[in-house]
Amino acid sequence: MATTLVNSDRADMLGAIGSLPRQLRDTWQNASRAAAEAIAARTDAPRSLVLCGMGGSGVGGDLLAATFASRCPVVPVKGYDVPSWVSTDDAVVCVSYSGNTSETLSCFGQAQSRGGVAAVITSGGQLGERADAAGVPVLTVPAGYQPRAAVGVLYATLAAAAQRLAVVSDAASVVELAAAGAQRVVDAHESPADDAGEPPALAMARTLQDRIVIVYGAGASTAVAHRWKAQINENGKVPAFAADYPELDHNELVGWQYARESGGRWALVELVMAETRPELVERMDITSELSADAFDALHRLEARSDSLPGCVFELLTFGDYVSTYLALLRGIDPSPVERIIELKERLGGR
Ligand code: PA5
Repeated sequence: MATTLVNSDRADMLGAIGSLPRQLRDTWQNASRAAAEAIAARTDAPRSLVLCGMGGSGVGGDLLAATFASRCPVVPVKGYDVPSWVSTDDAVVCVSYSGNTSETLSCFGQAQSRGGVAAVITSGGQLGERADAAGVPVLTVPAGYQPRAAVGVLYATLAAAAQRLAVVSDAASVVELAAAGAQRVVDAHESPADDAGEPPALAMARTLQDRIVIVYGAGASTAVAHRWKAQINENGKVPAFAADYPELDHNELVGWQYARESGGRWALVELVMAETRPELVERMDITSELSADAFDALHRLEARSDSLPGCVFELLTFGDYVSTYLALLRGIDPSPVERIIELKERLGGR
């Protein structure tokens, strides 16, 4: 790979992606121990597990819901308010990597007044302080990552908490399958075969460059499609949008009919895994055929892992690389998210 490309990666986002399998495996070891010490074990599942967190800290909840056969509904909350029905029957976990995200702090306060927060996951900040002061179990994650680059740490910690709360079981195996899926992609990018040419995600990124990327998922790959969108926004620093089958066939499909007239340059990526229902794959075939004229590039990415968690993390890791290369191809450092920091400063913690 051209050295000039990597030169822009000043905070080593590629390295952080490469560490994903290790993040998952190492964190599971530590977090399962920490959760056993901090969180009183439940025998019965709560009515629901409510996971509050924004952006890079919210994605762990989506991934948990996508990869585990949970014993109760897992409800990700991305906003200031916990749902009106939340009570002592539910377990609420608040996740904020920095510990200073206003929406998550607001949910923490509301959940505390409705019967209590079961645990928080954070590297510190106000969330850590408030939880400590209130005697709420804190699972501390190491600082130093961009929150979105700590996805392995946050997911494995969440899995440990969810197991302690009797929401999921056999989390050690699920986390290992997820790590194996991520490893498959990391290996292809860190030690490509001699004749492999450039890394596959870089090759895909070249076809997406200077286009608005649309990412479609179906079933469990929907969570990954939204992760791709967010990573292309934050790492790649370009607009991107995600939607899911079959719902998009009832609206978005029509929007592509005259899309060229807008002057926009679009590229489509569809994410498929073994679990994707045949009806959904058929929909993808017909939809992409009907909409082909609208797109400069069309990709169908199929996960090869032999488990659902493996497929989810395989597709996720590939997208993390693609989004990073989208920045590097333009000489931009993928790590800083200046606009988010400026917005948070202007809001002054509100
Ligand atoms: O990736 C990012 O930097 C953001 O999406 C953050 O995760 C988001 O703003 C929430 O912050 P935190 O993860 O610290 O709660």
